[in-house]
Amino acid sequence: MNASAKTVRLLAIVAAIGVFAVSAGGPPATAQEDLDGRVRKFLDANRGQWRDLNVPAVDGQTLYDIIIRNKYTRALEIGTSTGHSGIWIAWALSKTGGRLITIDIDERRHRQALANFEATGLSKFIDARLGNAHEIVPALTGPFDFVFSDADKDWYKNYLIAVLPKLEIGGCYATHNVSAGRRQRAGEDDYLDYLRGLPNLETTIDTRGAGMAISYKRST
Ligand SMILES: C[S@@+](CC[C@H](N)C(=O)[O-])C[C@H]1O[C@@H](n2cnc3c(N)ncnc32)[C@H](O)[C@@H]1O
Repeated sequence: MNASAKTVRLLAIVAAIGVFAVSAGGPPATAQEDLDGRVRKFLDANRGQWRDLNVPAVDGQTLYDIIIRNKYTRALEIGTSTGHSGIWIAWALSKTGGRLITIDIDERRHRQALANFEATGLSKFIDARLGNAHEIVPALTGPFDFVFSDADKDWYKNYLIAVLPKLEIGGCYATHNVSAGRRQRAGEDDYLDYLRGLPNLETTIDTRGAGMAISYKRST
């Protein structure tokens, strides 16, 4: 067989392999595509079913978008519950090459969150801790570039004071259930005033879901 006949034969084999691959369901999915499919399926199956004070899906999507847009990699969540927001955050981190520390004091919720993280395939991106965030948070060394505060509201200010020095410039501190439009409980009003009074934070309120203060750190 001469060189050109060999080339034609080789091309025919390559084409045949391609046809086989397509007829067998297309090219194999990447690990990220597999993970995306698994997470989407889990979130779709559980949409509207979260019963443990979890964020609405629209807020989960917002957290995901912020992380992807800013390529954040070092995330902290205060208040895991059963893991709805944690799944959105860790899903984004699976794409940026990041990792999440998340904390909850309630053992049942913590265990359910672990099971949910496992079901989505996101466990390897999450360090889920069971304990009192009042003690765990100040002891964390950081640094962080993304923080989601969603535990006990009357401790919001203390969490912020503990974490802000460990938040990188350009980082984001998101606080759930904060809304400028409607009347807050007394402590929540104080928190929002405090947040807005900090000169190194630029804060906006996202009202599409349950109300979320989104603060970017602009200087030390
Ligand atoms: C609003 S829920 C969090 C929802 C969660 N981010 C989600 O969307 O799935 C608040 C959680 O904070 C936890 N929590 C309250 N006080 C805490 C504390 N001192 N330390 C750690 N977790 C606490 C509660 O057990 C509860 O699960």
